Amino acid sequence: MVITIVLLCVQLITRCYGAGSPGPAACANLTGSLGITKVSSSPLSLKYISTRQDYWNTLQSRYQPSCIVYPKSARDVSIAVQAIRASGSRFAVKAGGHNPNDFFSSVDQGVLIDLGSLNAISYNATSTLATYEPGSTFGDLYAYYAQFGRTILGPTMGGVGTGSALGGGSSYLSPQYGMACDNFRELEVVLPNGEIVIASPESNVDLFFALRGGGGNAYGVVTKYTVQSRPAGQFYSGNVMYLFEQTDAVTLAIKNFMQYNADPKASIVATYLKLPTPGLGLNLDEAILTFLVYDGLDPGDAFTNFTNIPHVVETMAVRTYPQVIDMPIPYLAQLTRGNNIFRVGVHRSNDSSYELALQKWRDWAESNKGSYQLLAFNYEPVPQSLTDASKAQNGGNAMQMPDGPWFWVSYILMTPPLLPQSNYDSVQASFRAMVESVGNAEGLPLFINDANSDQNPLSTFSTYPQLQIVKNKYDPDHFFSTKTGGWFST
Ligand SMILES: Cc1cc2nc3c(=O)[nH]c(=O)nc-3n(C[C@H](O)[C@H](O)[C@H](O)COP(=O)(O)OP(=O)(O)OC[C@H]3O[C@@H](n4cnc5c(N)ncnc54)[C@H](O)[C@@H]3O)c2cc1C
Ligand SMILES: *[C@@H]1O[C@H](CO)[C@@H](O)[C@H](O)[C@H]1NC(C)=O
Ligand SMILES: *[C@@H]1O[C@H](CO)[C@@H](O)[C@H](O)[C@H]1NC(C)=O
Ligand SMILES: *[C@@H]1O[C@H](CO)[C@@H](O)[C@H](O)[C@H]1NC(C)=O
Ligand SMILES: *[C@@H]1O[C@H](CO)[C@@H](O)[C@H](O)[C@H]1NC(C)=O
Repeated sequence: MVITIVLLCVQLITRCYGAGSPGPAACANLTGSLGITKVSSSPLSLKYISTRQDYWNTLQSRYQPSCIVYPKSARDVSIAVQAIRASGSRFAVKAGGHNPNDFFSSVDQGVLIDLGSLNAISYNATSTLATYEPGSTFGDLYAYYAQFGRTILGPTMGGVGTGSALGGGSSYLSPQYGMACDNFRELEVVLPNGEIVIASPESNVDLFFALRGGGGNAYGVVTKYTVQSRPAGQFYSGNVMYLFEQTDAVTLAIKNFMQYNADPKASIVATYLKLPTPGLGLNLDEAILTFLVYDGLDPGDAFTNFTNIPHVVETMAVRTYPQVIDMPIPYLAQLTRGNNIFRVGVHRSNDSSYELALQKWRDWAESNKGSYQLLAFNYEPVPQSLTDASKAQNGGNAMQMPDGPWFWVSYILMTPPLLPQSNYDSVQASFRAMVESVGNAEGLPLFINDANSDQNPLSTFSTYPQLQIVKNKYDPDHFFSTKTGGWFST
């Protein structure tokens, strides 16, 4: 009897104070070992609030970590990984917080490792190698390297974080230099067992392979990137925007560009936007926004197929690389925050799946007005110059990208705030069914940076069996795959 009461009391106390649950236990340990300046356990503290609110998919802010850890060195990350492992707690690793998938960089009742304080940057003018820690956004990195007349490969928007490169990283400069990950030269990695290692063409070659486009949080935590920088001078670049009447003409220009453009200095991203109601003061509910970027001053006729079509806005001008990234307006990645999800498709440019994808998307948009706040459909060309540049460095990346031309389509669905869960679920199911009905080209990889967690993109890689072996070697007891979200080849 007495024993039962004592046990009950102990249970009550540990439940109230949480000391017995794994998240708070790991946090108590880390407060002891790293100190209170590097561990924030109060959901009311400013630091905690700013990390928790800083997600591109604002739904991730629903989750409440037991504490947030701010490592300042690889050693701090290693201590955190070991304490989390010992406690059995769930966790997440957060860089820029732009991956929209649940639990990829957010966690409920577990430890959130915010890499934001691990943010040293340097440039070696002799070797032209750039080194950065994971805590900066790419906007910060582009601005830093611009002072040396250089840049690095990374996403086309400034607010996106360094996790982007681990997922491949498609850049305006990719047709010239490959994906961001192709430009990796050395990575410092904290393994799931806490060991700090170097992955490079000489050391842990298999790990270096998997981290080049196979995603981050499956194999450990990258604490330092050394990459090949590239010259960045002046870019003739801008946006051209069209009304929906021009859809067919623009669509044809994009198709021709994907198929025929032979100049790797010319790069485009084309975005179709759908608003739930006629808006923008132009009485339109659909607009096409193209981003045209030329590395140099004279694009020749690379973009004339676009500029010849009647348009409503045209901002072509000479820009620096950070100005290119700020098109059409700075902080676009921040402004598009909301209840966002991604989906991805992959297609060849020599068949009609291209029109089919766009048509199905437009039909869905018409028949689901009210179910979205914003819809976007993006064409991301993968020309042969890109796949050649990829192969030429480190023998290609974890995707082992088949020869271009082909292209990814990325879909963004922003649902209205405060949608009841059942409505939210049915909108997501319907959108998913629409994307799945388009189908994907056989033998081409889905881009994990644009994928929904239910799309299992790694299984579309020809290297999947190889990635499974790497995964089992570096995370043999499946600590990461069972305790955090991400892309896992198991
Ligand atoms: C507005 C917008 C524009 C985009 N534009 C592009 C683009 O032009 N090109 C492109 O390729 N992609 C683009 N993306 C996709 C983007 O690359 C992915 O969403 C990417 O996952 C975001 O990385 P992050 O660091 O911001 O996010 P996070 O959510 O912080 O991280 C993404 C994932 O990587 C893991 N991770 C991050 N850092 C590390 C690390 N150091 N070690 C181990 N694991 C780590 C995280 O745990 C998480 O699972 C865009 C996304 C958005 C929202
Ligand atoms: C934290 O946990 C680790 C790993 O279990 C242990 O070695 C260490 O002593 C603990 N430190 C504190 C301060 O509790
Ligand atoms: C810069 O690179 C050169 C050439 O590889 C090398 O000799 C030098 O040590 C590097 N400098 C620093 C500070 O790392
Ligand atoms: C422009 O379109 C025409 C077909 O109308 C095509 O032959 C040409 O290759 C295209 N040019 C570029 C640079 O895409
Ligand atoms: C398109 O290209 C692929 C790969 O080169 C080829 O297998 C396929 O037959 C082509 N399709 C058409 C319709 O030409």
